[in-house]
Amino acid sequence: MKAPKRRLQHVLEAQQFGNDPELLGEVFKLAQFFQKGGESDCMRGRILASLFYEPSTRTRLSFESAALRLGGGVIGTESAEQFSSVVKGESLPDTIRIISAYADVIALRHKDNNAAEDAARVATVPIINAGSGAHQHPTQALLDLYTIEQECGTFEGLTVAFVGDLKHGRTVRSLAYLLGKFPQRKIVFSSPVDLRIGKDIKDYLDERGVQYVETDILGTEVLQADVVYMTRMQTERHASTHNRDYSQFHLTGRVARSVRGAILHPLPRNSELDPVIDTRPNAAYFRQARNGLYVRMALLHILFA
Ligand code: ASP
Ligand code: CP
Repeated sequence: MKAPKRRLQHVLEAQQFGNDPELLGEVFKLAQFFQKGGESDCMRGRILASLFYEPSTRTRLSFESAALRLGGGVIGTESAEQFSSVVKGESLPDTIRIISAYADVIALRHKDNNAAEDAARVATVPIINAGSGAHQHPTQALLDLYTIEQECGTFEGLTVAFVGDLKHGRTVRSLAYLLGKFPQRKIVFSSPVDLRIGKDIKDYLDERGVQYVETDILGTEVLQADVVYMTRMQTERHASTHNRDYSQFHLTGRVARSVRGAILHPLPRNSELDPVIDTRPNAAYFRQARNGLYVRMALLHILFA
């Protein structure tokens, strides 16, 4: 008998969820269930493989924690570029074919922009994009949107400001795609001129009729937003490694005093987000990181329940 087509086959890009508001609602409802202490053993007898070719703390460990909390098992390699057989010249598609036989779902982080799509083409189990180069980080976008809803009471009709390295920041790209699926007041992109958000995102927002502005200062437009989404300089993706001064894009304790909206950051942070801000009630980034666990439990639940 032919197996019924699964609702969610792979998690490759944030747009998937904007295209299917019912699915997004299900993710958020389940995330809330798990956040309130709800339990499920939907992964009993199932295995998550975490295959990470780039460093990670939150994404890998929250996926692994999510699988274990759902009664599943975990296998994986945290420095696949160093410890997997890629060192011996094995390709990503071959690696994915092999792991498909050992695990029931693969969370993949890779430096290539198309890695998740390439993996999904050959995988016989679901692929979850856990970060693909400077392109996308869809599960982060989901947990970001979930956090915005919790902090602001809605994720529609808002002014959302993104600050930092918007050229290389995959979390900003994914969240901008997802926000653009819903009516917003305005999106503010604040970055150095040479680190502006990609044209593809601006074209997409134009198509959707979402108003946005670009600025090269961290000024009033940012400070008055409902959400101030800070990001670090993605220096590992910069061509030149010389030490530039980006301090004008730092949210200092003094400047943060005039922010009324929720302050988010995908983390890890460098000096763009002063730790003195951590105790402010609108500093939402540690709650945001915790929400990652609930949202990832929700996704795995949808895949396996
Ligand atoms: N952790 C996020 C990512 O992997 C953000 C960052 O590294 O700056 O994209
Ligand atoms: N936010 C995020 O993706 O964190 P890690 O890089 O630590 O997984």
